[in-house]
Amino acid sequence: MDKKKILILPGDGVGPETVNEVKKIIDFFNKKKIFNVEIEEELVGGACIDAFKIPIKDETIEKARKSDAVLLGAVGGTKWDNLPFDQRPEQGLLRLRSDLELFANLRPAISFDPLIHASSLKSEIVKGLDILIVRELTGGVYFGEPRGIEDLGNGKRRGLNTQVYSTDEIIRVAKVAFELAKKRKKILTSVEKSNVMESGKLWREEVEKLGKKEYPEVDLKHMYADNCAMQLIRNPKQFDIILTDNLFGDLLSDAAAMLTGSLGMLPSASLGTINNGNYLSGLYEPVHGSAPDIAGKNIANPIATILSFSMMIFYSFNNKKISQIIDNSVKKVLYKGFRTEDIMDKKSKKVGTNDMGDLIIKEITKNF
Ligand code: IPM
Ligand code: MG
Repeated sequence: MDKKKILILPGDGVGPETVNEVKKIIDFFNKKKIFNVEIEEELVGGACIDAFKIPIKDETIEKARKSDAVLLGAVGGTKWDNLPFDQRPEQGLLRLRSDLELFANLRPAISFDPLIHASSLKSEIVKGLDILIVRELTGGVYFGEPRGIEDLGNGKRRGLNTQVYSTDEIIRVAKVAFELAKKRKKILTSVEKSNVMESGKLWREEVEKLGKKEYPEVDLKHMYADNCAMQLIRNPKQFDIILTDNLFGDLLSDAAAMLTGSLGMLPSASLGTINNGNYLSGLYEPVHGSAPDIAGKNIANPIATILSFSMMIFYSFNNKKISQIIDNSVKKVLYKGFRTEDIMDKKSKKVGTNDMGDLIIKEITKNF
């Protein structure tokens, strides 16, 4: 059995609590000799600011680079809201994404039958929903230069950000989406605002060219981002994979998450260069944020973090079987009627973060 190194960055808010449930699963796998995982833990975000006055240490970036995969909880919180931009907790996460060149962010939105009533949409609209958002993660307005707030001298200021994409940036993320489409329903919707943005026009042209040349078997559609937001709410099952840029992907993935009932259910994988069929140093994190209002109360939903760990096993460790065992165990616990507060309904049994983790582990155990 190969030895794997995982760097764990619990971060802020509910991050440490939800990550803790994954640590319990790793312990179980190690004990059963299913994996041989070595864990290292470091601070990121506000927790790192409090200890070292910076959102992430250079050594942590290096450790992330050298590990087989990184699991991150969440970053941010009201406590650090007034810090200047380059010192905010979010910078820790953005640096990890950028320094490790994790350009492809996979955000699956899957509706679990037992949670169908937790969605704000009608059951028939979300039943069986299984879509995947592929979000570009290291470019666009998040990193474009110039940026800043300029003093105009007359007591007025100007805020500036730049949306910018090059051919190479578009093609490398589009390839990830096309390759995934080949393994799924062979439908891909590429999303931009090519009606008002040059970067969007280039995006559409490059994706179209790539599709024609290398992926003729994939049915490629193009859609404006505003229409996509509307279609996600109107008829989300028309989509299989949505490919989009960094900012639109941020917005559309939050919307897609809510279709499934709760942000607390949505995992994500951020992947970089592919080497021998394996993605190098993937970063796995729940889509939900740090939720400081419910932190430390043992009420956060650990499922998004647990499913992120399952994605790690799938994409970075290439082990479909174990990944499926985790996913199925989550489903079974939901079928049995256990819910954290965010997905609670009248008929279900309410459990805390800890118990939800334990229930899932109990289901996992039955497979070994
Ligand atoms: C996300 C988050 C981040 C983002 C924040 C925390 C920087 O909202 O991963 O979706 O905007 O990308
Ligand atoms: Mg977001």
